[in-house]
Amino acid sequence: MYSLECIDCGNKYAESDVVYTCECGGLLDIIYDYSNINIDMEKLRLEPPTVWKYRDLLPIKGKHVTIYEGGTPLYKCDRLAELIGVKEIYVKHEGLNPTGSFKDRGMTVGVSKALELGMKTVACASTGNTSASLAIYGAKAGIPAIVLLPEGKVAMGKVAQALMHGAKVLSIKGNFDEALSLVRKLCDEEKFYLLNSINPYRLEGQKTIGFEIIDQLNLNVPSRVVLPVGNAGNVTAIYKGFKEFTELGVTDHVPKMCGIQAEGASPIVKAIKNNAEMIEPEKSPETIATAIRIGDPVNAKKALRAIRESNGTAETVTDEELVQAQRDLAQLEGIGVEPASATSVAGLKKLVKQGVVQSSETVVCVTTGHLLKDPQEVIEACDKPIVVDATIKAIRDAVFSK
Ligand code: F0G
Repeated sequence: MYSLECIDCGNKYAESDVVYTCECGGLLDIIYDYSNINIDMEKLRLEPPTVWKYRDLLPIKGKHVTIYEGGTPLYKCDRLAELIGVKEIYVKHEGLNPTGSFKDRGMTVGVSKALELGMKTVACASTGNTSASLAIYGAKAGIPAIVLLPEGKVAMGKVAQALMHGAKVLSIKGNFDEALSLVRKLCDEEKFYLLNSINPYRLEGQKTIGFEIIDQLNLNVPSRVVLPVGNAGNVTAIYKGFKEFTELGVTDHVPKMCGIQAEGASPIVKAIKNNAEMIEPEKSPETIATAIRIGDPVNAKKALRAIRESNGTAETVTDEELVQAQRDLAQLEGIGVEPASATSVAGLKKLVKQGVVQSSETVVCVTTGHLLKDPQEVIEACDKPIVVDATIKAIRDAVFSK
């Protein structure tokens, strides 16, 4: 049993309502009767490590559509910790989900809900990863998926996934924010099920990142969780997971949530720094990290609340800083991530330099998507392969050349 509640006016909606936002325009949260939920972490350890092991805290009771999402590794990164100057850094590598991003956690729940509600078509706007994920879960569920992408601004790996898994892929002559506003209209008019992160069921799946971090740290709470912010769903979702664990007595406090944005697309960071109640949407967001090239994040209100309530912070990084962090993760820790994901590590580096994060802290960085999502960026960021004649001499010359 749960209800959907408006975070602004408190209006409630039922499990059977097809609704994304409140009549008043406010965002919706899914609220459970926590007094009736018992979480036994020891027992849960015996279950397969997927999102669904937390089913008592998920809003789907019947059949669910799963491709074994979740259960991603939490790497202890000592070489990175030494470079950055923090006692302990862990990286939660969400790039190791079925489609290579954290979106799968939200889609397994969202597409399951679409089936429960009897919806016949699912749809989303996307900077890429959401579309890849919707396509694969739509395929598994056997329902058509429609995705709207900003033309020319989506990494190749993500478009390839959406196409191969059979989604109808539309390239919009506009940016992500415009595509999202259009798909919301389309869904309202055509009764397609909207699976962007404004849909609160998506966030329910994604909150399991928070549950897993606590489990993997043997019920210890890290001092901070640092992650990239785009449409601002994930920071909200992970915070909800941490909060629910305190509600249920699994932990007694939450980590500070730290949201990182690219300098050219940073409405959340500006609102936090200016102590503003709401964001100022940015009309022409720009960054090499196309996954988070977003100027008007729909979950801004929830995200600002998550960052402030947890005593967290928000910071920007430049494209150069995030590409350097992408290299650091790859070459010091063997963790291959796409550019947006590396903002977490670039942001942490900056926060340590500023003295905001202390060297005594235990920090978790979430890397949200896999390196192979955006091969073009990697080709441009790295040296080209060295072409040599097929002789041992030529190979030797190349190996030992400076
Ligand atoms: N990292 C990656 C790799 C992403 O793809 C996204 C969002 C984010 C971070 C930011 O997460 O939106 O919850 O704040 N990608 C969306 C998409 C917008 O369409 O794939 P957020």
